[in-house]
Amino acid sequence: MTAWTPKKIKALKGKGKFATITAYDAITASIADTAGVPLILVGDSLGPTALGFESTVPVTMDIMVHHTKAVRRGCKNAVVVADMPFLSYQIDETEAIRNAGRFIQEAGADAVKLEGGVCRAKLISKLVENGIPVMAHIGMLPQNIKQSGYAYKGKTEEEVASIMADAKAVTEAGAFCVVIECATSGLAEKITSSVDIPVIGIGAGAATDGQIIVISDMLGMNGCKLPKFVKLYANMREEAISAVKQYMEEVENGVFPSADNIYE
Ligand code: KIV
Repeated sequence: MTAWTPKKIKALKGKGKFATITAYDAITASIADTAGVPLILVGDSLGPTALGFESTVPVTMDIMVHHTKAVRRGCKNAVVVADMPFLSYQIDETEAIRNAGRFIQEAGADAVKLEGGVCRAKLISKLVENGIPVMAHIGMLPQNIKQSGYAYKGKTEEEVASIMADAKAVTEAGAFCVVIECATSGLAEKITSSVDIPVIGIGAGAATDGQIIVISDMLGMNGCKLPKFVKLYANMREEAISAVKQYMEEVENGVFPSADNIYE
C-alpha cells in the first residue's frame, strides 16, 4: 500500500473525491489506516468526543502530543495530521513554531492543522518555510465558539467574501489542503473551484474535493445526537453495550468462562 505524504494529498486535487477521517488513539487509527484512508486527523475534537470535555477549548498541547503519538503508532500508511489546540499558535510565532515542531519531532506527525484564514496566513507560510506542512481550517472555527458560536457560514455576501479571502490566503501561504467546516454548499463549491489545493469539507455539502468525518460520530460510539451532516455507518455503542450485558449475564449464570476459555 502507498505511504501517503502531504505532497501526495495535495496532488489529489482534481483527481476525484476522497475521504479522510479523525482518529484519537492507536486502535481507531489502525482501523482507519487498515481501511486505506489517506489522511488521519488527530482532531482536537477528541476533547468532546473522547475525553468528555464540553468543547475543544480545554484541550492542551500535552494532551494532543500524547494522542498524536498513539495515532502514529497505530498508523502505517496514512498522513497523520495533528490539530494545534487553542492558544498553542495564537500567542506568537515563535511559540507556534515550537509547538508545531513538537508534533513533528516528538509525536511523529506528518503535518499540523490550525484554524483561521487571512489572520493565520503569515504563520502558515512561516511553518511551511520551516519544513512543517500545514492543513488549513476555515469556515466555522470550533476554537472560536465563545466568540462566534457554532453558526453555519456563508449566509451573507460579506461572509462569503470573507471566507473566499480566507481560502485564497491559506492557499497562497502554502497550505497543502484546507478543511472547510459548516458552510453552505454554495460557498464550499465556489471555494473548491477557486483554489488549487484540495478542499476537504465537513458539513459543507458534496462539491468539495474531499470529506472529513469524526470517527466516533460515524461509528455511533458516543450515543449523542448527531448533526445532520453526519451519516451513521455503524452503531458500535449499542453493540458494545449489549455485548457487555451478555458478558455480565453469562458470568452471573456460570456460562462464561466455559471449557473453551479455560487452561486445564
Ligand atoms: O477537531 C477536528 O476533528 C476537526 C475536524 C472536524 C475537521 O477539526
